[in-house]
Amino acid sequence: MSKALKTAATAAAFTLAALTLDAGAAHAACEAGKPRAEMTYEDAQALYDCIEAELHAGYMDGPKRWIPEEFVADYRGWTPVSRLPADPGFHGERYLLTFVNETGAAEYLEFAEERGPMPEGTVIAKESFAVSEAGVASPGPLFIMQKVAPGTSPATNDWYYMMVGANGRPQAVPVETACSQCHNDLFGMRDGLGYPVEAVRAGN
Ligand code: HEC
Repeated sequence: MSKALKTAATAAAFTLAALTLDAGAAHAACEAGKPRAEMTYEDAQALYDCIEAELHAGYMDGPKRWIPEEFVADYRGWTPVSRLPADPGFHGERYLLTFVNETGAAEYLEFAEERGPMPEGTVIAKESFAVSEAGVASPGPLFIMQKVAPGTSPATNDWYYMMVGANGRPQAVPVETACSQCHNDLFGMRDGLGYPVEAVRAGN
């Protein structure tokens, strides 16, 4: 890390420490202490550390209706397949962090450029948070993909796509056009998997 970056990272840590002192406040902001454009993935991790409890509490709030509640309750115990949050420019420019359940983790971690279908029962959850231009974090939705039995949902390559708002409400989205098309147009050769950007993939 360059000296300038280190100084900046220290400044960010100080900002976060100051905010922690303020934790009694109803809604302590999580701030990077620098503009978003200057943030490193490590800065994003510091923001995540600050916002993660609020993020998960938000997803858990209220009934999950058609979304299996255990997906939302359990995903933090699954295998993290990214080391740090990154903002690939998809999913609304948000910072993303991905977890895969036991059924699919080993296969996902191969990050194969070409592959057949993932094992039935694979569930992938992706947390997201937004960061303003000024470097202030706010919770974003939880994105979920579930691999179902062959032939169950041919239009989406047997993936069920789900989305839980930051406030815990299941979001009714037209999944073919809002989720599946992009995943399959861009990543059809690897069963629709986008994968985290290389720099932050687990193992890199
Ligand atoms: C415009 C393209 C696009 C759209 C639309 C889109 N995604 Fe994604 N999705 C991606 C990309 C690219 C990644 C990999 C991003 C990363 O982690 O850096 C990804 C990753 C994911 C992952 C992690 C598994 C993986 O592919 O590696 C989940 C889960 C997911 N998306 C769910 C959804 C859901 C649910 C929707 C609809 C509400 C949706 N996506 C809409 C492009 C898209």
